Amino acid sequence: MKELNHLLEIIEEIAAGRYSNDVMELTRPEVPEPVRSIAEAMGLMMVKVETREYRLELLIQELRELNEQIRHNAVGTVSAMASALAARDKYTEGHAERVGSLAGLIAGELGLPGQEVDLIRLAGRLHDIGKIGFSDRLFLPHEKKNPEGVVREITRHPETGAEILKDLDFLGEALSYIRCHHERPDGHGYPRHLTAAAIPLGAKIIAVADGYDAMTTDRPYQKGKTPEEAFAILTQFAGSKWDTACVSAFERILPKALEEQTLLMTNPST
Ligand SMILES: [Fe+2]
Ligand SMILES: [Fe+2]
Repeated sequence: MKELNHLLEIIEEIAAGRYSNDVMELTRPEVPEPVRSIAEAMGLMMVKVETREYRLELLIQELRELNEQIRHNAVGTVSAMASALAARDKYTEGHAERVGSLAGLIAGELGLPGQEVDLIRLAGRLHDIGKIGFSDRLFLPHEKKNPEGVVREITRHPETGAEILKDLDFLGEALSYIRCHHERPDGHGYPRHLTAAAIPLGAKIIAVADGYDAMTTDRPYQKGKTPEEAFAILTQFAGSKWDTACVSAFERILPKALEEQTLLMTNPST
């Protein structure tokens, strides 16, 4: 019987996940029994399945929104920690924000995908979060040359930062960018003395943004350099202290960053 064969074809299609309204054709009065009754039952079943699928889609959407909200709140919490750090250290006020913005611009210039750019920008904002564990004496005005005990404490901040943030799953690779932001291509960085190939690109990008901002900011022991002076130093040490490709990308975005005033407020004491 051709109706029965058609019904079997439709059932096979449905079983393969391809829904259509073809089954409704077989519910017409002229279709012989039992094909018509089976087709009606199938039609009813499909409506129920589709309703459930729709509800599931709504639930998935809700879960996505909740997930995004949790992520947003977690970013807000760690940003508040970064602000708490800035409040302790008046000499680096705005440093985290500026490093985040600059790092994002360099990452974009290097052609990295949007999500990666966002992650690098976030890691830039949080890169010095490990300083929150510093003792108060480190935030007091001091000479350029630090005593050995102080140097040891300072060099721990990348690891401390990654440790503080390690339970925030969504940070993913950002943790290694934070852990490695003081490593250098020539292996003379800290804490692990990694060389170029072992340092993640995100960390190399943050290192350039960090170096530039540190040089152009007034510190107790030094007057901030001009953008041109700081850039000349970045170029001089490209390949040893900083990654060459990141310094080149920085050169290309510098005029834009200055124009957009990303780099304003580099001098908190004025
Ligand atoms: Fe740092
Ligand atoms: Fe820094």
